[in-house]
Amino acid sequence: MSMQALTQRRYGSFEVFQLETIDVPVPENNEVRISVRASGVNDWELGMMEGKPYIIRAFLGLSRPKPPVVGCEVAGVVDSVGSDVRKFKPGDKVYGDLSEGSFGSYAEYVCVPETAIHAMPINLTFEQAAAIPHAGLLMLQALGDIGGLEEGQSLLVNGAGGGVGALALQYAKLRGVRVTGVDSAAKADHMLSLGYNEVIDYEEEDFTESDSQYDLILDTKTKRSPFDLLRALKPGGTYVTVGGDFPRIVQIVLFGRWIALRHRKHVRMLSLKPNQGLDQLTGLVEAGELLPTIDRVYPLAEAVSAIERFASANHEGKVVISMGDGALS
Ligand SMILES: NC(=O)c1ccc[n+]([C@@H]2O[C@H](COP(=O)([O-])OP(=O)(O)OC[C@H]3O[C@@H](n4cnc5c(N)ncnc54)[C@H](OP(=O)(O)O)[C@@H]3O)[C@@H](O)[C@H]2O)c1
Repeated sequence: MSMQALTQRRYGSFEVFQLETIDVPVPENNEVRISVRASGVNDWELGMMEGKPYIIRAFLGLSRPKPPVVGCEVAGVVDSVGSDVRKFKPGDKVYGDLSEGSFGSYAEYVCVPETAIHAMPINLTFEQAAAIPHAGLLMLQALGDIGGLEEGQSLLVNGAGGGVGALALQYAKLRGVRVTGVDSAAKADHMLSLGYNEVIDYEEEDFTESDSQYDLILDTKTKRSPFDLLRALKPGGTYVTVGGDFPRIVQIVLFGRWIALRHRKHVRMLSLKPNQGLDQLTGLVEAGELLPTIDRVYPLAEAVSAIERFASANHEGKVVISMGDGALS
C-alpha cells in the first residue's frame, strides 16, 4: 500500500520539501498507525528545513534529517495497532505532538508509540485538534508550570498574534488576568477582537522602555537581553521565553539564576516536554475553556504553501494541513 507524504531528505530552503508517494508504514509492537486527518504547522518545520540553529542537527541528523517525513502535530483515527498496544484500538480518534522523535504527520498515515498520543477532545474537528498539542502545551507549561499564573495578575504576551498567543489569552482571561499583546500593527484589530485588553505594535513601541510592568511575561519571539526584560517585570515577576533568537535565550539560561538572586525577578526558558499535560489540556478544551484560533487550512498537496504562510508570519492563529476526510467530522 502506498500513500502521499511531504518528505525532506536534505537541509536547505523550501525546495527541499517534496510531495512523494511512499510505502504506508507498518506499526511496531508498541505503536499505533494513525490515518492522519490533519496536522498543525510549527516552527519545527522551518528549523528542520534549514537544520538551524545547527545544534538541532545533533538531534535531527548531522547531514540530513533522520525522519524523512515532515510534521509534528497530528490528529486522526487509529487505523491499526501493534501487539503490545493497550490504550487504543482501531477507530479511536487521537491527537498528539510527535516532536519527541518520530515526526511524520504530513502524510496520510503515521506510526507512533502509543505513549505519544492521547484521545482527541470530543468537541473538536480534526483541524482544530491538530492545532492544539504543540502550541497548547507551550502555553500551559509556560503560564502554568513555570509562570504559576494567578487570578487578577497582569500578563504580557510578546509575539501574541500566533498559535501560542491565542491560547494564552483564553487561559488567562478565564483567570481574570489583564492581558497585553505585542505583535505587528497588521494584527492589532484581530487581537483586540479576540479579547486582548491592550495591544502594542512592536515596531512602534518597545515594551521594555515603557512605565508598565507585568506579573508575568510570555515571549514567543525573544529578541532582548535579560537585563532589558527586567524593567518590564513587577517585583517578584517572571519572564518565560518559549522561543526566539538563540544567543538571547542562551543569555537567559546563563544569567537566570544570578538575576533571581540579585533582582528577585525571574527570567526562565521553557524547554517543551511534548505531550506532558496533554490530559489537562484535553480537559480544558472539553470544558470549553480553550479553542484554537485557525488561520487557514491547506490540503496536503499544498503543504509547502502552508509552511511558507507560517514563515511569512502573516498568519493569525494556527496554519493547518488537512488530509481530507476529517474536515467535516
Ligand atoms: N521551548 C521549546 O521547547 C519550543 C519548542 C517548539 C517551538 N518553540 C517556539 O515556540 C514559539 C511558538 O510560538 P507561536 O507558535 O505562537 O509562533 P507564531 O505563530 O510564529 O507567532 C509568533 C508571532 O510573533 C510575531 N513576531 C515576530 N517578530 C516579533 C517581534 N520582534 N516582537 C513581537 N512579535 C513578533 C509574529 O508576527 P509578525 O512577524 O507579523 O509580527 C507572530 O504573530 C516559536 O518561537 C518556536 O520556536 C519552542
